[in-house]
This record gives sequence, structure tokens and C-alpha cells, in this order.
Amino acid sequence: MELATVVDPRGKLTFIEGGPHLPFPIRRAYWIYDVPGGELRGGHAYMALEELIIAVSGSFDIVLDDGTNTDVVQLNRSYYGLYVPPLTWRQLENFSTNSFCLVLASQPYAEEDYIRDRDSFLAQVRNL
Ligand code: TYD
Repeated sequence: MELATVVDPRGKLTFIEGGPHLPFPIRRAYWIYDVPGGELRGGHAYMALEELIIAVSGSFDIVLDDGTNTDVVQLNRSYYGLYVPPLTWRQLENFSTNSFCLVLASQPYAEEDYIRDRDSFLAQVRNL
């Protein structure tokens, strides 16, 4: 989704609010940066967590997989956010130098909400 941006001669300002702009309340923000070339992040799914992933600077790819279809989305604009629903296997890769990945999440950190095992994920989505 494209995020609201205010442009004037002093530069650009992009913003997001949990209520009007997102289908979930923002309960947590975290960011991933200083990723060495070739490293992967993510590689898991969440039971219930929803998130919006933004490439605030630089670029990276997000591989999304619902257990049936795989999609690769390149994020490279600071005014664009990718919504990722629960029960989506997602991996972040191809980080450019100095990329900065901001994640807005619907829940506080909870390891119990992670599905880190690929076979468990597939069993889970196939039983839906
Ligand atoms: P993780 O979500 O597994 O990131 P990645 O899939 O990119 O490796 O998190 C890595 C570690 O950081 C893990 O030990 C949990 C911890 N962590 C927190 O403590 N709080 C957080 O909000 C997040 C996202 C991670």
C-alpha cells in the first residue's frame, strides 16, 4: 500500500496511523539494518501477527508463501508498505547496502506466535 506523503521544497514526509491506514493497531515497531550482503532474515510465519514492512531506505526482497503460492516483492520505496497477513511464510533477502527495514507489528514480541518449522507451517495452512 502507498503511504501518505507530504512533499514540499524542504523534502518529503511520509506517515502512517494505525487506525485509518492499517487493518491492525500498531503494538510494536522494530527495524533491521546493517545486514551483510547475502544474508537472509525472517524465514518463518506467525500464527496471528499482522505486519507492515517498509523499506525506509535501500531495497530488499520479500518472499511470501502461503503454502500454495510463492510471490517475491521487491521493496525499494520509503512511501510503500507491504501488508503481510498471519500464516504467511516470509523471508527477507537481497538487502542492498545501507538498507533499512522497518516493521510495524500488531502484537508485542511473542515467541509462541512464531512458526519457525516449515513442516509445521505447511500442516497448519493445509488444515485451514
Ligand atoms: P526474529 O524475529 O527471529 O528475526 P529474524 O527472523 O530476522 O532472525 O528475531 C531475531 C531475534 O530477536 C530473536 O531471538 C527474537 C529477538 N526479537 C525480540 O526480542 N524482539 C522483537 O521484537 C523481535 C522482532 C525479535
